[in-house]
Formats: sequence, C-alpha cells, structure tokens
Amino acid sequence: MKILDILNVHDSGRIINPATAEGQVHSGMAQGIGAALYEEQLIDPATGRLLNPNLLDYKIPTAMDAPDLKCLFVETDDPSGPYGNKALGEREMLLDTLRDRLGLTSVKRGCEVGECGACTVLLDGVAIDSCLYLTVWCEGATIVTTEGLLARDGTLTPVQQALVDEAAVQCGFCTPGIIMSATEIVGSGKRYTRDEIRKLISGNLCRCTGYQNIVNAVERAVNECADIAERTLAAHADDDAA
Ligand code: FES
Ligand code: FES
Repeated sequence: MKILDILNVHDSGRIINPATAEGQVHSGMAQGIGAALYEEQLIDPATGRLLNPNLLDYKIPTAMDAPDLKCLFVETDDPSGPYGNKALGEREMLLDTLRDRLGLTSVKRGCEVGECGACTVLLDGVAIDSCLYLTVWCEGATIVTTEGLLARDGTLTPVQQALVDEAAVQCGFCTPGIIMSATEIVGSGKRYTRDEIRKLISGNLCRCTGYQNIVNAVERAVNECADIAERTLAAHADDDAA
C-alpha cells in the first residue's frame, strides 16, 4: 500500500508555537500510519503484557515510511487550557517566553542546556534555568527577572550595588544570571563563607572569568543583607520585650 496524500485538520485551541505544534501533529500522524498499516503489537491475552517490547522485534516507522504530511489548525479558544491551548505539547521554554514574547532581554540565551546559568530567573523565589523550564509549568507562579528588581526611583538592590562597587561586571553577559542567583542566596538571610559562595554561584559561568570580583560582590551583599536581617530581628526582640 502506498499513501499518496494525507491531511490532518486539528482542533488545537490557541496555537502558541506553530512550528512545534506542526511537529507534534506530524509525529502523531506518522505514528497513526505505522499503527494502522504495519506495526503489530503482540499482547499476551492472559497478562495484558506486550510480547514484543523492544526495537529488535518491534519496528516503528522510519523516515522512509513517513510521507510529507499536511496539517491545518482550527484555532478555537479553550479557556481551561494554558493560554487557551489544548495541550499539543508545544513545549515553549520560559526563556523564549520571557525574551521573545515579553521582551525581557536581561534573560540571556546562552547554552540552552542548563550549563551556563545565563538564563537564571527566580520562580517563587528559587533560582532556576529558564531554558530548561516549560512555560506551562509556571501557571500561578511568580517569575522575577533582573528587570523586576529595579526600584521605581532607580535604586539598585544590594546585590546589584555590590556588583557595581566591586567592579564585578566585564562584558556583562553573565551578570543578570549572577544577579538572580545572588538574589536567591542573600534572600536566605544567612552568612556564607567564600568557599560556600563559590559553590553556590558555580552554576553561573562567566566567560570573562572575573570570578574574584564576583565572589567579592556576592560576599559583600550577603554580609550586608545578613546585617540588616540581624538588626531587624534584634529590633523586633526589643519591641516584644518592651
Ligand atoms: S542558557 Fe540556560 S543554562 Fe545556559
Ligand atoms: S562578565 Fe562577561 S561573561 Fe561574565
């Protein structure tokens, strides 16, 4: 049997990423062709277990078997889906949403495999690599990027000011990611040794390799914020005692 043409019309909800959505539908169609025409799952009727579970004895379609496929999307809004989407598995990463859709270009596109930390943002206060995090997982979460740290009057945060004061910025590509990681670190209110700080920011690579000044800056911000936390706690203790 030879397939001459095939068209899939898909009720997709709102399309978020057309190229990825098409890819998902193409692969579903190719799987359907395989299942309909020549794949044969042998099931043990007594146990329901698959009897040919590996690729030595179970053949899936190859590129030779998959003809060019066409698909059309019927975009219907689905208020219950993320962004009105009906979950085609479009897998937009948070990095792409923040940079390309929202214009938050402090979030840098580096390795895109979770190695460099250039894309670090805070998700509910926790530093994550946005290149590895699906946007749809962020439903209901608070995302903070470096743009969100700046006060209305332009005042820098203690971490940002420390990076300026310690001359810890060279080309600046890694800086927003380092700011977000350091913001998580100082948010703990704890003090850390220099070795601990080195370890805590080791997920953020700096190609200019200005690590010494970066560690100086994070150490300065950690100590300043710990001082503030301790003074605040002492003031509250005095109030309680009065
Ligand atoms: S771009 Fe995300 S870790 Fe490198
Ligand atoms: S300052 Fe250039 S990569 Fe870090």
